Amino acid sequence: MSEQQVRVRLHVNGVPREATLPARRLLSDALRHDLGLTGTHVGCEHGVCGACTVLLDGRPVRACLLLAATVDGHEITTVEGLAADDGTLHPVQQAFRECHGLQCGFCTPGFLTTIAAYLDENPDPTEDDALEAVSGNLCRCTGYQNIKKAVLRAAELRRQQSEVRS
Ligand code: FES
Ligand code: FES
Repeated sequence: MSEQQVRVRLHVNGVPREATLPARRLLSDALRHDLGLTGTHVGCEHGVCGACTVLLDGRPVRACLLLAATVDGHEITTVEGLAADDGTLHPVQQAFRECHGLQCGFCTPGFLTTIAAYLDENPDPTEDDALEAVSGNLCRCTGYQNIKKAVLRAAELRRQQSEVRS
């Protein structure tokens, strides 16, 4: 028997998107395969590695643990949605570049979305906070030191941006 199809409507990176999907399609697969947003990476598919982290109404979630149909009508931000429309990097992206926070880059989208949401709630982290912020994301390449530096640098860039605006 073929799987039931459902119509799912999402706001992805500020853009209304619709797709007809199998009812059990994972959000991670829907983003990558149905909506063409391959920036969201899939590693463990068990909620462990954090590579698939996206923001659901601004909060980080593991897209491999959610069915797309269960987030119908919600706002999703993927790594493709972090930079500004004119291509200006998000502070976390800029910080990863400056601090060499990536090597192969497989884990990076999940780190970027996780840290972006973390800094919205915790704009002035300590070194310990920075490590804690990424403790749920796995990276096999970097040893985490440069990622920790990138969290702190991103916080600094965000503060500089808000000073310029005020
Ligand atoms: S792929 Fe989702 S947590 Fe690893
Ligand atoms: S940069 Fe390779 S897994 Fe993190």
